[in-house]
Amino acid sequence: MDVLQSVTGLFLGLFMWLHMFFVATILLGHDAFWTVARFFEGYFFFGRSLPWLVSLFVAAVSAMLVVHAWLALRKFPAQWKQHAAFWRHMGRLRHGDTTLWLVQVLTGFAMFFLAPVHLYLMLTHPELIGPYESADRVWSGRMWPLYLVLLFLVELHAGVGLYRLAVKWVAFRDPRRSLRILGRLKWAFTVFFLVLGLLSLAAYIKLGIEHADRVGEPYIPAWIKTAP
Ligand code: HEM
Repeated sequence: MDVLQSVTGLFLGLFMWLHMFFVATILLGHDAFWTVARFFEGYFFFGRSLPWLVSLFVAAVSAMLVVHAWLALRKFPAQWKQHAAFWRHMGRLRHGDTTLWLVQVLTGFAMFFLAPVHLYLMLTHPELIGPYESADRVWSGRMWPLYLVLLFLVELHAGVGLYRLAVKWVAFRDPRRSLRILGRLKWAFTVFFLVLGLLSLAAYIKLGIEHADRVGEPYIPAWIKTAP
């Protein structure tokens, strides 16, 4: 079960880093994000959009999340004695990685409730992924507060999670030096993806405010509008 939890965690962590790059293409321009969204719908392979392909992928990611969360529940302190023992242990040890374990439990628990809101919208309305469509959802659809909280939860959880996987499964020749480097890398990646996510969210909010009087209007790139 530990191996399965690590494998699903590795998949979800790497997926989230890729996901953030895809979402951040809005910073490169509306057409860039539109092209990425259409790419995942098979538009450039089948000559037309098949949004259900995205729903299939969302269903697969959701299933992975459910399995990962279920396996993680084994490690959650349940009885009061277990909670008390953990806090006493953490307070006495003052050991970074032990405290990070609590960060994993708290961010994981919070994502039980917040991630499904986002995933259900992506599963049921994959056709509404695009510059105007996403900006309308983020601003006029009031999804930005959820995204803001979820961004910090998922980037902390993914960064610490991938670090813990390396600590757990990789046999380092010089563990002390490697752990120091890994620790710095962990915070560098977490800060990088938080900044990227905040900039992207700001871009969606700005576009959402500008587009608030035309909510629901789909985005069509100029080269399609002018095409014969
Ligand atoms: C295949 C599954 C997923 C798809 C297709 C997807 C798609 C998207 C899209 C299109 C956006 C842009 C905003 C919007 O259109 O509403 C977005 C934003 C976001 N998603 Fe996902 N998502 C997926 C899974 C996840 C998961 C599993 C999480 C976290 C547990 C997550 C966390 C976020 C966050 C935090 C944002 C806001 C990013 C920012 O700061 O700009 N997503 N996602």
